[in-house]
Amino acid sequence: MSHFETTAIRTQLERTSYQEHSSPLFLTSSYIFEDAEEMRAAFAEEQERNIYSRFSNPNTSEFAEKVALLEGAEAGFAFATGMSAVYSTLATLLNSGDHIVSARSIFGSTHSLFTKYFPKWNISHSYFNVNEEDKIESLIKPETKILFAESPTNPGVDILDLENLGRIAKKHNLLLIIDNCFATPYLQNPIKFGADLVIHSATKLIDGQGRVLGGVTVGRADLIREIYLFSRNTGPALSPFNAWILSKSLETLPVRLDRHCDNALKIAELLEKEENAENVKYPFLRSHPKYEVAKKQMKLGGNIISFEIKGGLEAGRKFIDNLQLCSRSANLGDTRTIVTHPASTTHGRLTEEERLEAGITPGLVRISVGLEHVEDIFGDIQRALNIEA
Ligand SMILES: Cc1ncc(COP(=O)(O)O)c(C=O)c1O
Repeated sequence: MSHFETTAIRTQLERTSYQEHSSPLFLTSSYIFEDAEEMRAAFAEEQERNIYSRFSNPNTSEFAEKVALLEGAEAGFAFATGMSAVYSTLATLLNSGDHIVSARSIFGSTHSLFTKYFPKWNISHSYFNVNEEDKIESLIKPETKILFAESPTNPGVDILDLENLGRIAKKHNLLLIIDNCFATPYLQNPIKFGADLVIHSATKLIDGQGRVLGGVTVGRADLIREIYLFSRNTGPALSPFNAWILSKSLETLPVRLDRHCDNALKIAELLEKEENAENVKYPFLRSHPKYEVAKKQMKLGGNIISFEIKGGLEAGRKFIDNLQLCSRSANLGDTRTIVTHPASTTHGRLTEEERLEAGITPGLVRISVGLEHVEDIFGDIQRALNIEA
């Protein structure tokens, strides 16, 4: 198999008669057939053909196939957003009465799915704390179907041991589903450790420039086939334009990620020396409680750092107000460095108790380190941390 960089660049649609070098954009909602028999055969799936862009489109197929290859997966399907990927994947696989075991530290909207919406269909869940992987097996019931986790987690940058999760899933015959959004296929491939399906919000580092929304699920071909059939009927498909952007973005993922991770490690090391920053967490910092696990399963540490501001909520708000270069925004994985206060934004709908259980303290700050010069990024953070009240 070719190297990651080559696959990311050279996986491409078949050229049209125009012999274009770069993949063109297919903005079409449907496709035509020569005669009634050809149309019948396409609908009967006797031929692999595009029928209607809610089902498939050349650009969305190129993007899904590329992510599948980069993750070492058999197949993939692309979605309009990361959340539609999470929702459609789980809704395809779960039936009334099923149970999910999940890490407690997961993206806020995924938590809302588990706690607010799935109970309507009699689907329940049990959470384990990220530092208590040894309790997972005790949560598994006869009706447990899925083991779900993110690593690194959002926003606490905790690490779960994917090899351990793979072993537990196999032993108990569960489907292991990993939201690999913070790592991207370049830094971590959960399928190697036993994941059945891997989900990405492509809105983040895969786009990498804060332009479009997208999502993708890749993994076992039999499961992707079920997810495709569900999605073909329910309509969460990715738009061809966004797929075209995202497939091109993947071409530069490795070079962007190398610099993101380099900047993030340097900033994390400098932050550790700052008086007003506590509990600096970054997977490739030696002080990270799961440093060894991160090294085992990740190529580099990613671009997300979390830390706590001395002084809690008020000090956190002041720090964010004092920033001049870094953006105050809820997104992550952009060329621009973004600083977020999870307790009042992305995880604001959780109760205080739920936030604390997920490790989100009032003063927790998440930095999505961008591609500006590292001295400019750190200069802004350091100045904002040290302005006297
Ligand atoms: C880990 C994780 N999963 C899923 C999502 C949802 O992605 P989207 O915003 O593309 O729906 C996010 C968004 O921040 C995320 O951080």
